[in-house]
Amino acid sequence: MVQQKIYQSVRKNPPGPRGFPIIGCFPQMSTNPLQFLTGAAREYGGVVRLGAIGPQQLYLIADPDCIKYVLQENPQNYTKGENFKDIKLVIGEGLVISEGDAWRSQRRLMQPSFHRQQIAAMVDDMTQLTDQMLERWQKKAAGATLDVSEEMLVLTQKILLKTTLSMEADSDTTELIQAWNIIYKFLSDRLWAVIKPPINFPTPKNRQFTQAINTLRTVANNIIQQRKQGNHTDHHDILSMFMSTQDESGKGLSDQQLHDQIVGLFSAGFETSAVTLGWIWYLLSKYPTIERQLQAELTTVLAGRTPTFEDLPQLKYTKMVVQEAMRLYPGAWVYARNNLADDCIGGYDIPANSMLLISPFVTHRLPEFWDNPEGFDPERFTPERSADRPRYAYFPFGGGQRQCLGDIFALTEIQLIVAMVCQRFRLNLLPEHPVECQPLLTLQTQKGIMMTLEPRTKVDNVSQLNTQKALLTH
Ligand code: HEM
Repeated sequence: MVQQKIYQSVRKNPPGPRGFPIIGCFPQMSTNPLQFLTGAAREYGGVVRLGAIGPQQLYLIADPDCIKYVLQENPQNYTKGENFKDIKLVIGEGLVISEGDAWRSQRRLMQPSFHRQQIAAMVDDMTQLTDQMLERWQKKAAGATLDVSEEMLVLTQKILLKTTLSMEADSDTTELIQAWNIIYKFLSDRLWAVIKPPINFPTPKNRQFTQAINTLRTVANNIIQQRKQGNHTDHHDILSMFMSTQDESGKGLSDQQLHDQIVGLFSAGFETSAVTLGWIWYLLSKYPTIERQLQAELTTVLAGRTPTFEDLPQLKYTKMVVQEAMRLYPGAWVYARNNLADDCIGGYDIPANSMLLISPFVTHRLPEFWDNPEGFDPERFTPERSADRPRYAYFPFGGGQRQCLGDIFALTEIQLIVAMVCQRFRLNLLPEHPVECQPLLTLQTQKGIMMTLEPRTKVDNVSQLNTQKALLTH
């Protein structure tokens, strides 16, 4: 779509499907959100009106330049606002949902903990925990079946707990994870519910949810208090960095803020990585030629050893596989903004206090920007083929000032896990197992991803190396 400014003189209402009074297009959308939103963008263009839900107008913003405008060029007019009412009960005023000055000062304090060199120091934890998982897999018989979505969830949870809080799997972590699972299920169920009963209404589900929030808070508070009593610099983790950080005036994060950040990181920091990994195993099993090429790179660069942070830039094809999987199946598949004042996006009038949906899933599959959008083709991400693509044709980590704080963490973790698992196993999708998207808070699958384990042999790896040499000499 043409630049924002060109449209200023032809303001009008965006086109869109016919909706119902009061509930707009919600019924069609909640039945199959991915198909509905993707179809709407292809049929109506980059800005789509989706009717009004109650007093609030709903729009889909799918065009890359319009997304750039909202996230990067005029972010002061766009808040996460009311969309996070439910999740606010869980994560309080942490970075993920706070706004304005409160968000700015927290982001400034937290950003340094996620710099590249800090992430490099977490690589040993990431590879050790992955190795433990692989040792466990090794003890299973060849051909054993497992749900890789579940396995990836447990692994990324362990990595997050270790790197942020120095916690190993024990009763506290089990309690924390169980509480989070209840919260996640509760919030996901409410996501597409037309009627949302107030959370303080004493239904069994509401009570279970409130109890899980209390558990999460208690565990987080205990951790902070224990650290304050001891010497928190003894730990080399994200919490200790948060506890040491100060702004120019010497002010750090309060106990409440520390608490909200811990719970917030828990909500943002593993589910998205886990679902991405699940989709990668699914895609590699579906596309054996790509899997072989990935293997060849791993054999050439690593020759069987554990990858380090320094190896990552050499694992170029591995990175492209990850990027392409995140194009087709972005873990954070949709998010929302409210505009404070009237605005004009892509030449269309958007009244104040509308809700805008921005969906990487939809934009990542627009045929205007992607040839064969449904195909899995990692080489789309070579520098040559990426050169002319608009910045917001691809944005799995969002963009602008609210871009994901954990993007380097996530990419490092995912690239390492892919490299380590592929060196030791081939994962084959169970032929009769259906894999369908389930768009909840993150892009899940409906019935997990059931795969069989095929351990790699040395012969496997040597023949990969020979294939690679043959490719290089031709
Ligand atoms: C594949 C993995 C991940 C994906 C796809 C992802 C995606 C995103 C996206 C799209 C946003 C912006 C949402 C918006 O603008 O409304 C975001 C924000 C955020 N993410 Fe991630 N994320 C991932 C992993 C992580 C990890 C591992 C962490 C931390 C350890 C993390 C921490 C955060 C935080 C703190 C924010 C809020 C930033 C702010 O508002 O200033 N994320 N993430």
